[in-house]
Amino acid sequence: MDILHTLSALRDRLAQEPTVALVPTMGHLHDGHIDLVRRVQPRATCVVASIFVNPLQFGPQEDFSRYPRSLAEDCARLEQVGCSVVFAPSENEMYPEPQSVTVDPSPLQNELEGAFRPGHFRGVATVVLKLFHMVQPQVAIFGKKDYQQTLILRTMVRQLALPVTLLAAETVRAPDGLALSSRNSYLSPAERERAPELYRALEAVAEALKQGKTPQESLERSPLDPACWSTDYMVVRRARDLSEPTPEDRSLVVLGAARLGRTRLIDNLEVSR
Ligand code: PAF
Repeated sequence: MDILHTLSALRDRLAQEPTVALVPTMGHLHDGHIDLVRRVQPRATCVVASIFVNPLQFGPQEDFSRYPRSLAEDCARLEQVGCSVVFAPSENEMYPEPQSVTVDPSPLQNELEGAFRPGHFRGVATVVLKLFHMVQPQVAIFGKKDYQQTLILRTMVRQLALPVTLLAAETVRAPDGLALSSRNSYLSPAERERAPELYRALEAVAEALKQGKTPQESLERSPLDPACWSTDYMVVRRARDLSEPTPEDRSLVVLGAARLGRTRLIDNLEVSR
């Protein structure tokens, strides 16, 4: 496995590869990331995992400086799974000058996550488009835990006619249901015990939807204890585009974001009714 830090080394390494797949990450890898690598391996001669904590997608009060960084351990895990290339650029390599050209994604960027993290999706779309130009993959894969991110990136790929196939992989969960996330490492042992309650709340809403309750009735089932959790949102949306569902919509998604102590967790659950 090659560990590369510069665009020129990356371009040299990939020049002769017939097919390249990209797994974009911010590092501190967990089994969900490793699953993404495994899923794209059959689709390309070369799998590139990028590791870059992207400052553009963090707000001024967010966790950019304390975001966990563990490049050596990440590379060891990627080597073990048979990843071909790690691309881990420095901030200066990725943004050699202030990034004044940015991607303004679809209006969905201002809802849900975007309402609580202004500018977040602009930062995500900008770095992902830049990674696509750097790596020039035929395939790229993202986790459905970031459901809204995946939809926004799909729209970007479609509307800008980018020559890349975007895949979305199911969320990988701990045995107790907690969605794997690099930010789970912020949780204290007591918070880690409570953390699966977010998933259980989504399950309760999904179950009520399946029983024929309306989204509004179903959301009343969400049992997140306000003494421990500060909920940013818990909503039911149409799976296809995250718009408000009509009674006719059958494919829905329940999305939630809530804070447990200093840690903000997000999760979602698709449901057909
Ligand atoms: O999902 C993530 O980890 C990040 O948003 C991504 C796609 C790697 C862009 O920085």
